[in-house]
Amino acid sequence: MSLSHPTRRSVVRWAAVAPLMARGAQRKILIAHRGASAYAPENTLPAYRLAIEQGADFVEQDLQITRDGVLVCLHDVTLERTTDVARVFPDRARTESAGGQSVRRWPVVEFTMEEIQRLDAGSWFDERFRGTRIPSWQQAIDAIRGKAGLYPELKAPELYERHGFRMEELVWETLRRNRLHEPGADPKTPVILQSFSAEALKRMRALGCKLPMTMLVRRGEQRRWLTPEGLREIKSFATGIGPDKTLIREDPGVVARAHEVGLTVTAYTFRSADPGGFPDVRAEMAHYLYKLGVDALFTDNPDQFPRRP
Ligand code: G3P
Ligand code: CA
Repeated sequence: MSLSHPTRRSVVRWAAVAPLMARGAQRKILIAHRGASAYAPENTLPAYRLAIEQGADFVEQDLQITRDGVLVCLHDVTLERTTDVARVFPDRARTESAGGQSVRRWPVVEFTMEEIQRLDAGSWFDERFRGTRIPSWQQAIDAIRGKAGLYPELKAPELYERHGFRMEELVWETLRRNRLHEPGADPKTPVILQSFSAEALKRMRALGCKLPMTMLVRRGEQRRWLTPEGLREIKSFATGIGPDKTLIREDPGVVARAHEVGLTVTAYTFRSADPGGFPDVRAEMAHYLYKLGVDALFTDNPDQFPRRP
């Protein structure tokens, strides 16, 4: 069952994103992965704004928590890959062992929002973006609201729980404060939650959240979620699955199995830097959307998304 061939069930399962779907009945959904991250530094306002300009239906934010409990947009649980934290706070590193080597890391949760605002999150990507800051989730919401949907990922909730934070509660409070906590609350800003943590999604449900939710599935032991039993279990707390695209390529039948139990299928991640053996990322995305029948996908290259009438 593909959204390009609508059935009553597919209409029902996408009801929560109906305002966007109304632009083109049952059309495929484009999610900008960390924003338009092929062209601007990931999870920054320039990347989010460019994603909107390039026609994204949803803009993804990966969420972390600062020492003073602020939700910020960053993929990694540490700051050193995408900021100049090593230069600004050279004495605040933690030394860890990784692959037999000693590495220095700067965990987000050990820095306040004020400290994080001193970091440059743009020049690692390109000098043109020097001075770009890590946005709070609130800043991201303000930048995206009314122009596209929000697709926040609850990253590493178990890590933050060890530091005394309940990420689910912070996400829920923020959604409520912004009046985005109910399906259809803002027709121009649908919200879909995602996580690799089933527990995090279940906790969101326990808080009363009725928004659509995507259970992410990575390679390895999480593959068990894609069995008929696993999919039925996901259906009890989420509305869709979000598998690593290679899991779908190896087992294309998972799309029909998920649809059969009423789950959407959203594949990750499609990027021009690695088009998975296809001539280019547009051809790769077209294969997954129109041959394999996925409903939506995450891409670093929103401008390459192959829309079809
Ligand atoms: O959230 C979908 C996809 O982004 C998951 O992978 O590591 O890029 O967050 P990652
Ligand atoms: Ca993500």
